Amino acid sequence: MSNRRTFAIISHPDAGKTTLTEKLLLQGGAIHLAGEVKARGAARRARSDWMKIEQQRGISVTSSVMTFEKDGITFNLLDTPGHEDFSEDTYRTLTAVDSAIMVIDAAKGIEPQTRKLFEVCRLRNLPIITFVNKVDREGRSPFETLDEVADALALDVSPQGWPVGLGGLFQGVLDFATGEVSRPEGDSREFLGKREANVELPADIAEEVELAQGGYPEFDMEAYRNGDLTPVFFGSALKNFGVSELIDAISRFAPPPRPQPSDAGLVEPENKEVTGFIFKVQANMDPNHRDRIAFMRMVSGTFRRGMKLTPSGLAKPIAVHSPILFFAQDREIADTAEAGDIIGIPNHGTLRVGDTLSETNGLRFTGLPNFAPEILRRVQLRDPTKTKQLRKALDDLSEEGVIQVFYPEIGSNWIVGVVGQLQLEVLISRLEAEYKVEAGLEASPFATARWIKGSDAALNSFEQFNRANLAKDRDGDLVFMAKSPWDVGYQQEKNPDLIFSATKER
Ligand code: G4P
Repeated sequence: MSNRRTFAIISHPDAGKTTLTEKLLLQGGAIHLAGEVKARGAARRARSDWMKIEQQRGISVTSSVMTFEKDGITFNLLDTPGHEDFSEDTYRTLTAVDSAIMVIDAAKGIEPQTRKLFEVCRLRNLPIITFVNKVDREGRSPFETLDEVADALALDVSPQGWPVGLGGLFQGVLDFATGEVSRPEGDSREFLGKREANVELPADIAEEVELAQGGYPEFDMEAYRNGDLTPVFFGSALKNFGVSELIDAISRFAPPPRPQPSDAGLVEPENKEVTGFIFKVQANMDPNHRDRIAFMRMVSGTFRRGMKLTPSGLAKPIAVHSPILFFAQDREIADTAEAGDIIGIPNHGTLRVGDTLSETNGLRFTGLPNFAPEILRRVQLRDPTKTKQLRKALDDLSEEGVIQVFYPEIGSNWIVGVVGQLQLEVLISRLEAEYKVEAGLEASPFATARWIKGSDAALNSFEQFNRANLAKDRDGDLVFMAKSPWDVGYQQEKNPDLIFSATKER
């Protein structure tokens, strides 16, 4: 059985993802990385100017994947970009993990971005472990948080521990599994390793614990693995409470690499053939070289440096000579990677998000969706002689997953679509910096887009009446540009033979 655990942390900004990541890496012995994570947290908050975005992108090549080991288990933690804005990057990262940790601020409960990310996890039935953070501060009653998670996310909750007081009254965290209380120590009131057994709890806490243990379902592995139940841990990332319990829970509960769906059926991690898929492409920091790093999630087999793999988009093999492997602390040079691991593959734009790589080119992984954009803008070229460069740039950047591009059937105004505002800033800066194209963005009459599918006859008749609202995407697939979500519903009702889809699988 695989000793890999590949997971992501989902949370709303400020809930403590960076702090928790740092503590996980510290406990896993990957200490040298901890400072980097912190720096990134600070850089991330200043997100308005391009240089800072670039800085963050640069650093995150190495911290996009953080590997650490503990007690014989190798953990691959994939970073989900943490800006308030949402990008497809974030969604796609969740296609490359087998489970997620959901961090919730004890005082704030479920916040908008937590909920959005949770919905993506639910689409994929990802198992989720919940970490209620900041119990060292004043917060809501733990019952309130548990009930909110249960109600808002329609998820069974199973508390695995309990805070002994909150904020000023905080005296530690009780672990239901061992019955021990981790205690704060010294002036910093951190957890430094002191655990007490057979603790007599204050009467009100003892009563809470009894209610909590009796009133919520017990942990059930099958329900957790199906994404129907979440074990809940209380802790403080800042003060180090609950962190080792969390790592332990990931080792014991979180699934090892899961089989992945493909057009040739489920691919099991035990299969001998090396297979994987690209879930993220990142442009290199150096603007003079249009180098990119494609992040591949290994699905099966044992990868060795120099191996030849065939990308589904190319149909001829490439030799992977200088892969970036993400090392655990004490493996300075690792030459192999296994199912669940991530490899960074440098390339010049040959690898695209959604590509499958395999030894035999005999299959394609499915389930790596494009998401319907939530913001659509017309691209306005300042210098009309640069049309060709603009088209090349838009095609490139859409391959990279920075934007989606739509070429309307009528008119010459190309439209770009994104799921988060930040992507638009990135687009404009990169057009200028990398392609020397000056462009502006203006409002478009469209609010969202849907990929449409159906019989030729049904599509033809739809096209006849809706040409002004139709476009082709980068791959030449037909897209309905809608003025409002209502418009989508209306057209769907009027055209029951067509499928209007908010996602597209490559
Ligand atoms: P994020 O990545 O989810 O955005 O959150 P981050 O870890 O950056 O944490 C946000 C703020 O919350 C930080 O404070 C951090 O120190 C604090 N924090 C995180 N975990 C805990 C916890 O368990 N208890 C308490 N009391 N605070 C916590 P900041 O002042 O915004 O940043 P900094 O200047 O301390 O870096």
